[in-house]
Amino acid sequence: MAGEQGGTTPAELLGVAVRIAREAAETARRMRAEAITDVETKSTDTDVVTAADKAVERQVVDALGRERPGESVLGEEYGDSAGGTGRVRWILDPIDGTVNYLYGLPQYAVSLAAEVDGTVVAGVVRNAATGDEWTATLGGGAWRDGRRLGGSARTTLDQSLIATGFGYDAARRRHQGAVLAGLIAEVRDIRRFGAAAIDLCLAAEGAVDAYFEKGLNPWDHAAGGLVAAEAGLRVSGLDGAPAGPDMLVAAPPAIFGALHDLLVRLDAAGGA
Ligand code: IPD
Repeated sequence: MAGEQGGTTPAELLGVAVRIAREAAETARRMRAEAITDVETKSTDTDVVTAADKAVERQVVDALGRERPGESVLGEEYGDSAGGTGRVRWILDPIDGTVNYLYGLPQYAVSLAAEVDGTVVAGVVRNAATGDEWTATLGGGAWRDGRRLGGSARTTLDQSLIATGFGYDAARRRHQGAVLAGLIAEVRDIRRFGAAAIDLCLAAEGAVDAYFEKGLNPWDHAAGGLVAAEAGLRVSGLDGAPAGPDMLVAAPPAIFGALHDLLVRLDAAGGA
């Protein structure tokens, strides 16, 4: 198609995404081993961005520009690249889990997804600290190390381990804390790992039973959301809304309804 050189099947797009994400993850890992530099803040004093976030995003944008000319990129640090003319858009979080990266906690990932005509059709999440890698294509399943993922078999909410995360804004956190206070007595336990893309992949492989969060951006959930959905989880917002900034819930069908209804009762999509 005009302005594009590569194919647009989910498998072709995933091949590009995996290759570029691996190189990007290596850059993130190496830069952390050398030194953390140029730590700046964004939306609040605790919302950090490092030189590595920017360098990794640049590297991916440049690589996509070479391999996939004419396709736009939406990235966490530099926003929407201008000039995309084709049907494909790439969605990138260069380092999801930046606070973990800053502290040396091994839960930070490069997340890269490809959309065709506004639908995410391929995605990879690569933990740059450990090399763990999750992939998915639309209709082609979710995979890790050659193993197809199928989510948790848990059937009751009170036996479920639920992952979640918090925004950077204090008012939002106050509300999220109140939601958590209402939730924690109704579930097995909660986990907060600090990287939404990895949380979604852990839910996809059943290492946690479900995940929810308010306030996510497209780059946080584009790739991981596809991995979770392709593992058979329901991924959506509340009351039939699509997953988005108000809420994302990812849960196996057997517990989705109970978790969803509890989150509605707790007004989890409300607050700041
Ligand atoms: C953040 C992480 C965190 C989640 C926040 C995200 P970042 O992304 O995914 O787990 O709770 O909502 O903003 O800032 O590390 O790229």
